[in-house]
Amino acid sequence: MDSAEIRQRFLTFFAERGHLVVPSAPLVVDDPTLLFVNAGMVPFKPYFLGEAVPPSPRATSVQKCVRTLDIDEVGKTTRHASFFQMCGNFSFGDYFKEQAIPLAWELLTRPVADGGFGFPEARLWPTVYEDDDEAADLWQRVIGVPAERIQRRGKADNFWSMGVPGPCGPCSEIYYDRGAEHGRDGGPVADEDRYLEVWNLVFMQFERGAGTGKDDYPIYGELPAKNIDTGMGLERMATLLQGVDNLYEIDTTRVILDRAMELSGARYGVDRRADVGLRVVADHSRTCAFLVADGVLPGNEGRGYVLRRLMRRVIRTMRLLGATEPTMGELAAAAIAAMGPQYPELVTDAARITAAYQNEEQAFLATLRTGTAIFDTAVTEVKRSGATVLPGDKAFALHDTYGFPIDLTLEMAAEQGISVDEAGFRQLMTEQRSRAKADSQARKAGLADTTVYRDVLDAHGTTDWLAYEGLETDASVVALLSAGQPVPALGAGEIGTAFLDRTTFYAESGGQHADAGTIVGDGVTVEVLDVQRPVRGLVAHQVRVTRGELVVGQQVQAKVDARWRHGARQAHSGTHVVHAALREVLGPQALQAGSFNRPGYLRLDFSWTSALSKTSRGDIEHVSNRAVRDDLPVSVAYMSLQQAQDFGALALFGETYGETVRVVEIGGPWSRELCGGTHVSASSQIGPLAVTAESSVGSGVRRIEAVVGLPAYEYLARERDLVGQLSDLLKVPPAELPGRIEGMMSRLRDAEREVTRLRQDALAADFASIVGEGVRAGKVTVWAFTAPAGTDGGTVRDLVLRARGEAGAEPAAVLGAAVSDGKVALVAAVNPGARDAGITARELLAAALPAVAGRGGGKDDVAQGGGTDPAGVAAALRAAVDLVTERTGG
Ligand code: SER
Repeated sequence: MDSAEIRQRFLTFFAERGHLVVPSAPLVVDDPTLLFVNAGMVPFKPYFLGEAVPPSPRATSVQKCVRTLDIDEVGKTTRHASFFQMCGNFSFGDYFKEQAIPLAWELLTRPVADGGFGFPEARLWPTVYEDDDEAADLWQRVIGVPAERIQRRGKADNFWSMGVPGPCGPCSEIYYDRGAEHGRDGGPVADEDRYLEVWNLVFMQFERGAGTGKDDYPIYGELPAKNIDTGMGLERMATLLQGVDNLYEIDTTRVILDRAMELSGARYGVDRRADVGLRVVADHSRTCAFLVADGVLPGNEGRGYVLRRLMRRVIRTMRLLGATEPTMGELAAAAIAAMGPQYPELVTDAARITAAYQNEEQAFLATLRTGTAIFDTAVTEVKRSGATVLPGDKAFALHDTYGFPIDLTLEMAAEQGISVDEAGFRQLMTEQRSRAKADSQARKAGLADTTVYRDVLDAHGTTDWLAYEGLETDASVVALLSAGQPVPALGAGEIGTAFLDRTTFYAESGGQHADAGTIVGDGVTVEVLDVQRPVRGLVAHQVRVTRGELVVGQQVQAKVDARWRHGARQAHSGTHVVHAALREVLGPQALQAGSFNRPGYLRLDFSWTSALSKTSRGDIEHVSNRAVRDDLPVSVAYMSLQQAQDFGALALFGETYGETVRVVEIGGPWSRELCGGTHVSASSQIGPLAVTAESSVGSGVRRIEAVVGLPAYEYLARERDLVGQLSDLLKVPPAELPGRIEGMMSRLRDAEREVTRLRQDALAADFASIVGEGVRAGKVTVWAFTAPAGTDGGTVRDLVLRARGEAGAEPAAVLGAAVSDGKVALVAAVNPGARDAGITARELLAAALPAVAGRGGGKDDVAQGGGTDPAGVAAALRAAVDLVTERTGG
């Protein structure tokens, strides 16, 4: 069962049981305790804590996760990965253990033919928390698992938390017994390799405080409700269901591993060192693609550093495996191809992701060349002097001058059998940091982590946020950052971050793009490039100084671009209108799952399982434009979350709401949403709205895109022009275009069929000259020929089979090739006589493929493949002839 199918089965099972399908959140979330999303429940944390009200009491998701704590284990064990997908079902105060356990059991044991995973009951072993009699009883009495297969474990194993203060609770895990060949008898307590954990059911009912380790922390008390958080590792399921040994060999990872093999020339399954390397490359390449797609770029701190470290491990490992040319672009492409079908953001962002991979590779290869030479000299010195420790100053020089991450130095040193004076290294790092602070100009790059924003907040308090009040305000500059470091001023041409005591700029949130505009003061003009709230209460303007100098303490005016804001209001109100129209046309299940809008454009993701019909799409557009015509009043009210919910306002997943919420209505109850965005005051101001696209963004979630206002008019005008051009070209009125084009296409198809037939006839007539004379090798005659350029694979096959047929009973082996569109098609066939002489078509093909960088396979009598290197065709044919010669001793 492939990974896409596992994912689909999981979501469908829970969707059919009343769970709202929620798309995966990005890997980077606004939670200062987390570097990356590392569990399926992370986006739901506020619902468990009772800080926010969930839009639905039941949810299901397949969440992308990154864990980088164990990256040294990747590739060495069968089950460590830096990227993984967590399938989960969640209940927010709805059902509890009594349903969570039977649900998981049903999905695991239901036959594959009925939509389940088909695990034999006798192979499953549940564990429960030591004093959780209730769960043990459910397993035994309701499910019927024999008491001896239910094991109890302590807090370290069967009590789950995020490792930081927050929601937690006892859990019950389900293990699959892979069989005696994988280890000892005795259940999960005895052997966790043989008994593989597949699903963790967390009974989320407590809140924990700070502490250390897995079991040393206080429990503060009960959460407002009893919740369920489950996690089933998609990759582990795939390992079991695909019958492979480890998670690097499942469908979606194996293709990247294979590509790494081709690019490096290393073989998998021959020696352990290469195996570990190939797995590291496959794992990390995939992780990096997701990180870049979610906005992380290689850097020297925080998330950027983790990404850089992963990328550099890939680059270096590829070298060790034998690659001599840059390979990162190819690896990015392989990762995107493997995961793109399920994560369209990778495909949309392919160019940017590939560029990030290639840039990092270029930079690092240059570094490696110089640094490795320095490292080797240092190691030789150490060894010559009889020591076993690389001095801290050497490690520091490698880091400081050649950009070697310390982890790399540690790894390379370990490979040479020596250690590194890490304490000395860290001491020098600390000294350097204080120097850098004193001379902040010296630092050119680096991402700011949130500490610098917290410092600004502590020193100057929150920003007075006036985005709803108007477009302009007087303000003073309270702080400035350049490259993430506080500075007293930003000069002309410089880019940096500006903090004002008050601002009218809308900071990106709730799907609405940040405002554009300027900040002006005496002799200074600054363009605002982006506006964010990096920590609660603080507005950060990303700016470029276009004239003069911006100085801390200066009096300025914040001016939002009026036309921009008008567009933003149209687009955001347009989003609400489309959402209401969707629900009117499709029904209330079509709930928004995410949105984005900027002037002129909006997109909305919503829960829905199938593509919209043309009619529904048209209806949605019609209902939206009718709402515009009706000039519905838009009103804003503030109330408590509870009041808003009673009022029927829609709260959306992924958003967190405070005590008091803002409710935006368009036409009263027709559209009622909790929203912090800026809106028009009556729906007619939205202007025309045109739906431009509808697509899938993962399982159970569709995306609708539209243009509004002037861009909508422009979009429709372009379409009208296009129709005009076609109508001129084909000389028929617009209404007759479809009929005319259909007629032309059908004639074209007939003509193409005719051309193919004629080409085949011509080839058949030239058969003898194309196939040529056979070569004798022992008892076997070998024909190896190239068909004229442009011949397709099917025709080559016909020629090959005909040649084999004409040989009659004489032992014959035939290999035919043709180049078409820069690709090589290869077909091999042998007759029984040749097979008796020890030649199979598969081997004949296999001998030829490497010369054209090809792949393929088939049966003993006929095999077929394709390659990407036309220059190797002659060598490929020769290799096949040589094989026969060798085999027949001829
Ligand atoms: N939060 C639990 C885990 O990550 C179950 O989803 O294992």
